[in-house]
Amino acid sequence: MASRSMMYLRVLIMVALATAAFSANLSPTFYNKVCPQALPTIKKIVEEAVKKETRMGASLLRLHFHDCFVNGCDASILLDRTSSFLSEKTAPPNNNSVRGFNVVDKIKSAVDKACGGPVVSCADILAVAARDSVVALGGPTWKVLLGRRDSTTANRTLATVNLPSPFSNLSTLISNFKNQGLNRKDLVALSGGHTIGLARCIIFRSRIYNDTNIHPSYARARQAICPVSGGDNNFAPLDHTRSLFDTVYFTNLVKRKGLLHSDQELFNGGSTDSLVKTYSTNFKAFSAAFAKSMIKMGNIKPLTGKKGQIRVNCRKVNSS
Ligand code: HEM
Ligand SMILES: *[C@@H]1O[C@H](CO)[C@@H](O)[C@H](O)[C@H]1NC(C)=O
Ligand SMILES: *[C@@H]1O[C@H](CO)[C@@H](O)[C@H](O)[C@H]1NC(C)=O
Ligand SMILES: *[C@@H]1O[C@H](CO)[C@@H](O)[C@H](O)[C@H]1NC(C)=O
Ligand SMILES: *[C@@H]1O[C@H](CO)[C@@H](O)[C@H](O)[C@H]1NC(C)=O
Repeated sequence: MASRSMMYLRVLIMVALATAAFSANLSPTFYNKVCPQALPTIKKIVEEAVKKETRMGASLLRLHFHDCFVNGCDASILLDRTSSFLSEKTAPPNNNSVRGFNVVDKIKSAVDKACGGPVVSCADILAVAARDSVVALGGPTWKVLLGRRDSTTANRTLATVNLPSPFSNLSTLISNFKNQGLNRKDLVALSGGHTIGLARCIIFRSRIYNDTNIHPSYARARQAICPVSGGDNNFAPLDHTRSLFDTVYFTNLVKRKGLLHSDQELFNGGSTDSLVKTYSTNFKAFSAAFAKSMIKMGNIKPLTGKKGQIRVNCRKVNSS
């Protein structure tokens, strides 16, 4: 008898732990009572910003990713440098590359106004803006889990170490994602984020001149805008439908037309080839996997309850 109730208790604890690990204590209805206008306000500003410049949708999606991979989704990426820490914004993967901070500021002031005070965290704004950006460019929607709080510190070293490199091979990418609790399926699905946006010549130069797993005419076309030296900041689209959230990123990989070395690693004879192939012909499968993995990524180490704070200004820790 005693052992049976012990077993029930164990099962109960396991279920509780699994639920906590899955939802990380976040909830899609977190702001429903305290500020029902929060989500529509974010959506409106994201839609305006994407209408004005489609690339902004890509930039906002990337901000959430670069936030989550450094000490969890806590808006650490938004903090400017102080005397006690350096900004993640100047870490090599971010410097002169991540953007969208003005749009985030605009969302924050509009949301605080709509809510009558700072009740929505900057970390949640990034998560919702990422989803709304994907939707605005024709991608899938999902219920964003909410209730993250904002960090009181940032870590440039960790941004340098944790953010994946475009020069990495498949095994390094897999272990980089594994360190965040994300598996290979998450890696492939989330890399589909490269269906939108741009990259700089300095990032893809070695690929288009030195890689051998690249379609020759694609390499030549890219070389025309990215010379061997100079033009470091010339842009190319990550796929040729860069304002549409579609499967073209994956169909390109199958044709050896990935722009980044890391992109083509996902289809280069290794363990992720079959997933790339599946997503290349199945928008529904890609959409479902992307949404699922975005929720998983959004659950990385959130600050909840009394941890952290709700920043008044996303760029600064609140003055006490
Ligand atoms: C798998 C490892 C990844 C690597 C190595 C990587 C690397 C990069 C690099 C180097 C750029 C171009 C930066 C520049 O030239 O300034 C870029 C752009 C971008 N990345 Fe990734 N990325 C990865 C995964 C992801 C994920 C998981 C997402 C989102 C779910 C994402 C979303 C984007 C977007 C949307 C852009 C375009 C941003 C813009 O145009 O402003 N990336 N990525
Ligand atoms: C970031 O980029 C700026 C402008 O190119 C450069 O002056 C600065 O040294 C870079 N910062 C770091 C930390 O690399
Ligand atoms: C930043 O992260 C690194 C690597 O985990 C750690 O060694 C360092 O103490 C952290 N720095 C700050 C200021 O938290
Ligand atoms: C991948 O890159 C890492 C780090 O550069 C290296 O140690 C490893 O041997 C490479 N793996 C393969 C399979 O090439
Ligand atoms: C290509 O590789 C060679 C040999 O490693 C190197 O010297 C050269 O700088 C590389 N070219 C580019 C454009 O990366």
